[in-house]
Amino acid sequence: MTKGFPKNFLWGGALAANQVEGAWNVDGKGLSVADVAVYKSNLKLDDYEGHVAISSKMIEKAAADPDDKHYPKRRGIDFYHHYKEDLALFAEMGFKTLRVSIAWSRIFPTGEELEPNELGLQFYDNLFTEMKRLGIEPIVTLSHYEMPLALSLKYNGWVERKVIDDFVRFSNVCFNRYKDLVKYWLTFNEIDSINRHPFTTAGIIPDRCPEGKEEKLIYQALHHQFVASALVTRDCHKIIEGSQVGCMLTKLTTYPNTCNPQDVELTLKKNLHNYFYSDVQVFGEYPVLIEKMFERKNIKIKMEPTDRDILKNNTVDFISFSYYMSLTESAKDGMERTAGNTIMGVKNPYLPSTDWGWQIDPVGLKISLIELYDRYKKPLIIVENGMGAKDVVESDGSIHDDYRINYFREHFKQMKEAVEEGVELFGYTSWGPIDLISAGTSQMSKRYGFIYVDQDDEGNGTLKRSKKDSFYWYKKVIESNGEYL
Ligand code: BG6
Repeated sequence: MTKGFPKNFLWGGALAANQVEGAWNVDGKGLSVADVAVYKSNLKLDDYEGHVAISSKMIEKAAADPDDKHYPKRRGIDFYHHYKEDLALFAEMGFKTLRVSIAWSRIFPTGEELEPNELGLQFYDNLFTEMKRLGIEPIVTLSHYEMPLALSLKYNGWVERKVIDDFVRFSNVCFNRYKDLVKYWLTFNEIDSINRHPFTTAGIIPDRCPEGKEEKLIYQALHHQFVASALVTRDCHKIIEGSQVGCMLTKLTTYPNTCNPQDVELTLKKNLHNYFYSDVQVFGEYPVLIEKMFERKNIKIKMEPTDRDILKNNTVDFISFSYYMSLTESAKDGMERTAGNTIMGVKNPYLPSTDWGWQIDPVGLKISLIELYDRYKKPLIIVENGMGAKDVVESDGSIHDDYRINYFREHFKQMKEAVEEGVELFGYTSWGPIDLISAGTSQMSKRYGFIYVDQDDEGNGTLKRSKKDSFYWYKKVIESNGEYL
């Protein structure tokens, strides 16, 4: 029987450019969809039921605002200028890998230029070179909620097929430039999230979709992303010898609230819908039941004659996914509901919750690993997992985040069991190894890190980095390859 984690297991952390870099208007960077996201003191539960409201008016107003005050992702944690110091801390924890994204609008400010912005490229040259020097393997996401805003405003984002060419051009520039530094690539972060927040994921502005057509346009845009993902997978394999390309899924493992067959059926359908997104990227074709759903809803996806071949011939090498919590579903109305990661579910009485209501379920991670491996039989990597919490800095500067240590410990135990049962898991990157700006609410006070950053929700603070108790704990976990938990 396999004992413990594999020898070269990639332990590390994961970041997204728009949540850490700041420097939103520095060195030629253009505005991205993230730069117009406003701070919310918290999402209301209702916000999760539909799409978080965003309108053309709000976007245009924000785009014209030169200030970073109301748009925390514009300032991030100033990783752009602190990356060396931050990488040194990750190296001190023993990181084998770090997942980062490349901000598309740093390389192509409006997305449509034919020549890339050299200063933007240089930043990632420096970043990846420093990572390599420290023995940290880069895993790079090409699209993590940060497409150039200009593409969103001009084309309603990915709704327009033309954006595929812009993305392929951007990706090819990255592959050629970083071919000696980066071997692992992810195409679209949480590609399934297009259905939950179409603006953030794909630049789709709801009030620019003709009445009653929004869902259709979302699936059309998704199709364009699938094709783009396949095309860049093909190009990456051609340009970078030995490269590995993965899809990235929000794993929304859902349980039936009871054994009432109606609950079970509803849950089955939710889980199948979640798999739809990775199925296309792994099997290279749309699931039959999804095509039937499109027929029933009269959704006709416009495809070029070669699209199905492109999908079939360029599938991914591995599956990456995020896992924060599980969900529960019930066919009955009126059940108490709670928040998850931009989604709601029925409250599960067996699980505790974070300060943000996300239900903590380590066994759900093991279930997810087993399901994914059984379905796809491809290597897996967990590229996001963690808990957002309010940390307290003691008078001596220490931060005792035992709740975070407990969260990780319990999840790691389940990961280890899954590996020992035969799941091929080659890495784990915690979400936000350093505190960063929340994707959902743009809060700074929703902290995920092993490293604390002195900055509040309004952007006040010295940006000084300090180590939480979990920093020392994770270091030991990595040192012992997951034996010390
Ligand atoms: C994932 C995203 O869905 O969840 C991250 O890929 C995000 O970008 C993370 O930060 C946690 O969500 P939040 O809203 O707490 O930042």
